Amino acid sequence: MSAPNIETIVSLAKRRGFVFPSSEIYGGLGSAWDYGPLGVELCNNVKRAWWRWMVYERDDMEGLDSSIILNRSVWKYSGHEETFSDPLVDCRECNSRLRADKLDYAGAAESGDIAALIRDKQVKCPSCGSTNLTEPRPFNLMFRTQLGAASAEDDPNALAYLRPETAQGIFINFHLVQQTMRRKVPFGIAQIGKSFRNEVTPGNFIFRTREFEQMEMEYFVRPGEDETAHQEWIDNCFNWYTSLGLSRDNLRLYEQPKEELAHYAKRTVDIHYRFFPERAEAEKHWDELMGIANRTDFDLRAHSKNPVDAEGKRVNPDSTEDLSYFDEARKERYYPYVIEPAAGVNRSVLAFLMDAYSERTNDKGETRVILKLHPELAPIKVAVLPLAKNKPEIVGMAKAIKRSLQPVMRAVYDDTGGIGKLYARQDETGTPFCVTIDHQSLEDEAVTVRDRDTWEQERVKVADLQQHLRQRLEVRG
Ligand code: GAP
Repeated sequence: MSAPNIETIVSLAKRRGFVFPSSEIYGGLGSAWDYGPLGVELCNNVKRAWWRWMVYERDDMEGLDSSIILNRSVWKYSGHEETFSDPLVDCRECNSRLRADKLDYAGAAESGDIAALIRDKQVKCPSCGSTNLTEPRPFNLMFRTQLGAASAEDDPNALAYLRPETAQGIFINFHLVQQTMRRKVPFGIAQIGKSFRNEVTPGNFIFRTREFEQMEMEYFVRPGEDETAHQEWIDNCFNWYTSLGLSRDNLRLYEQPKEELAHYAKRTVDIHYRFFPERAEAEKHWDELMGIANRTDFDLRAHSKNPVDAEGKRVNPDSTEDLSYFDEARKERYYPYVIEPAAGVNRSVLAFLMDAYSERTNDKGETRVILKLHPELAPIKVAVLPLAKNKPEIVGMAKAIKRSLQPVMRAVYDDTGGIGKLYARQDETGTPFCVTIDHQSLEDEAVTVRDRDTWEQERVKVADLQQHLRQRLEVRG
């Protein structure tokens, strides 16, 4: 079982301290969300799992943390200033601003030309139903800002952008990383960090927001070896999600058709997740979780000073560096091709939450929510619960056990309800194990360990508890 819709997760996330609507005391801010005590743990665990898998468990990877605000030239030569836009359409009746490529063309002719369909009044505004729409025009998604206290608001010399992808920070550091770490192609550079896009139509909870976090890796290969490497990364990424518990039934690979490809891509395969299972049309259940693109040598060339156009003029007169690579073994110089697995932290968190959602009915006929998160992702690994909170010896023993566990795993102590309520709360937040201390524990130095998924209970000696939990959690360094 998984969540029947995103709304179920929105309500659970707020109730249990995962994700709150941002700025709520001032009426909120559209599409901005704050991650609460459990949400921040879940995000950190997703990022830690990705970094371990991507960087630590490989021999060909380095990490990086580049600036969010970069020299404006980066975005000029990457092509973002010119082409990083969505087609914007206004409804003249209700003033809704819409993304032309997301409008519903059901029933409209299969002409494919959005502007023509709008002119022919074959497309309706989803808000008011009017066909009185403007023609699409490009709306650049990069957030603009000015650098420095003295700059006037429209000073082009002070214009800067918040990065819309972390990738460019990697390309401009390619040589520095390769040379300082003495790397030979093929190798990769991984980065996790915030990105910003002034989305025309954000929404669906944390699925599409204007501020979000990305986990991106640029893998540099010799031209000609790119297609094999691309396929390997597609398979690797798919398997990473399933290894952390996502069901294969809720994942699929989507080959982007030519007309959808970004300006830099030769081929892109997206991993789709079934984010919208409630939609009537099966094809609309799916949307992008991550993309794996073959960016060719587009970016390294674009940021290099050497390439010239047909007239022999430098294509990039602002760069001071040539980002080509000299292959010592083959005695050849080339611009490496780049394979880019690019995932969103927030969309991954949403997919993990939806997939982990399940319900179970107890002996009393009550339906309980159980969040079957992979132990590596679970915000809390173990909850220590005293069976009698008015017994100082039991409370003291429970607190001592919690303190002994906390250096090695995230542990919490809770005595704010009856044991049934405490178990239910931990099930709903995805805690894999509860440890209960009772009267007998004072006698036999043993506790009850309860499993979230099976509700089975086992008696374990306090002296063996840490080892027992570590084994079952497979908590890794
Ligand atoms: N460097 C390539 C790149 O940025 P992308 O497909 O535009 O590719 C990669 O973004 C991933 O970032 C997406 O698959 C998605 O998970 C996440 N992402 C992109 N825009 C987002 C948004 N507005 N809100 C949340 N996540 C977003």
